[in-house]
Amino acid sequence: MATTTSTPTPSATSGRMAAVNEMTRLLRLLFEVEREFLRTVTTLVYRVGEPELKYLICQHAWESAGHARFIRERGRELSGFGTGEEVRASIRRVFVEAVGHAQSNPLVITAGFYTVLKPALLAAYRHYLKVTDHLADWPSKKLVEEFIADEERHLREITPYLQGVDAREWNLHLTQALDDLGGWLGQETRLPLAAGYVWQQQVKPYAHPATCNRGKYPVCSSVFGFDPTEDPIVRPWLTDPQTDARVIRLMVYVWLMMEMDAIDYLATVFIDTPAAPFDLHHDLARHLWDESRHSQFGFRQLPKLGVDLMTVEHSLDLYNILIQMPAHERYALMTMEFEAGSFPTKAHVMDRVRELSDFEADTLLAFDRNDEQNHVRYGHRWLPEMMALFGEARPTEEFVKATQAKFKDFAARFGGLTPHSLPKEKRLTGEKIRRIAGAN
Ligand SMILES: [Fe+2]
Ligand SMILES: [Fe+2]
Repeated sequence: MATTTSTPTPSATSGRMAAVNEMTRLLRLLFEVEREFLRTVTTLVYRVGEPELKYLICQHAWESAGHARFIRERGRELSGFGTGEEVRASIRRVFVEAVGHAQSNPLVITAGFYTVLKPALLAAYRHYLKVTDHLADWPSKKLVEEFIADEERHLREITPYLQGVDAREWNLHLTQALDDLGGWLGQETRLPLAAGYVWQQQVKPYAHPATCNRGKYPVCSSVFGFDPTEDPIVRPWLTDPQTDARVIRLMVYVWLMMEMDAIDYLATVFIDTPAAPFDLHHDLARHLWDESRHSQFGFRQLPKLGVDLMTVEHSLDLYNILIQMPAHERYALMTMEFEAGSFPTKAHVMDRVRELSDFEADTLLAFDRNDEQNHVRYGHRWLPEMMALFGEARPTEEFVKATQAKFKDFAARFGGLTPHSLPKEKRLTGEKIRRIAGAN
């Protein structure tokens, strides 16, 4: 006897997969929240002044990129995750609000991210864990358990920086925006927005500050120069075989610490590329975190070698010049000019430092070099895509050349305008580096 078969109707199919579809819907929301967090939290990096806080935010941004990536990977194994990567308007609106505007107090903005939006993400992960089947959905469960531990740690790590910051009013404002959604997953009771609620993004849209914040540290235009009584990194000394290797080591640590420039201007690119594919932001987040570690190499080693960090002026020129240019030009200069062009001098510096048998210095410089090679690779991969986002149709090479020329012009207009915070007697200079290094 022949068995009768019937074609399943769409409603039967979705009914059969309902348990999966519901969890996939939540994973999709979590993906969008993590990637939009990454796109917006990075605006804090150049607005906060404390280097340790910059470094921490870069680390959290990178971990969030990792969360988003693993959620997307898992989501794609499930039916209904969707192939697109865009963030829905209701989620985007809350994160854009959290960015504040150019005059916002950066620590209040930090508090908004870390005492309202991140705890809500933690609550969303906990909700996911509660409602999913631990055996059937084991792969997601393992990820979410790990992310909960990360989120709890992020909240602990940020706490010291938010001591004494009064963000009650701002936090209430963001809480209302979030309550309107019923939490990131809509898992709570919705509290619709009051009629009088004013979205700040409509009143004062965000714009990048004209300069970056370095808090209590002294600043200047540039740390590279030719005068040992004025500048800490004396260019000809880096390649002069007569220079004492201990002097080169100190100068390269100043150089590495000043990759704080790269942290600050690279962090500006995320918010400016709302239509970027997630993988672009993922690799930018890695790039950002790498630079924050390179800067830490100098920031942590200089005091050990006898340098008082309060005498080391921070160079602001690169941020100040690049911020006048659109994001794809900033990224082009970073990867195709500054990074690609730094290898020969750095190779020479590494050879000289090796004379000192300083294993730690050799290790830091080797990892810096390895990371930088990846950054140039990222540039080749992503610059054409970023150009497309900005409607730039010229061939990449032609665009890079034109951007290099534009940079020269902009450097003359917007560079060299930051006066020294410290008189030369007080600041770290080449001459002082020689004295601290014990060289004659
Ligand atoms: Fe670097
Ligand atoms: Fe780099």
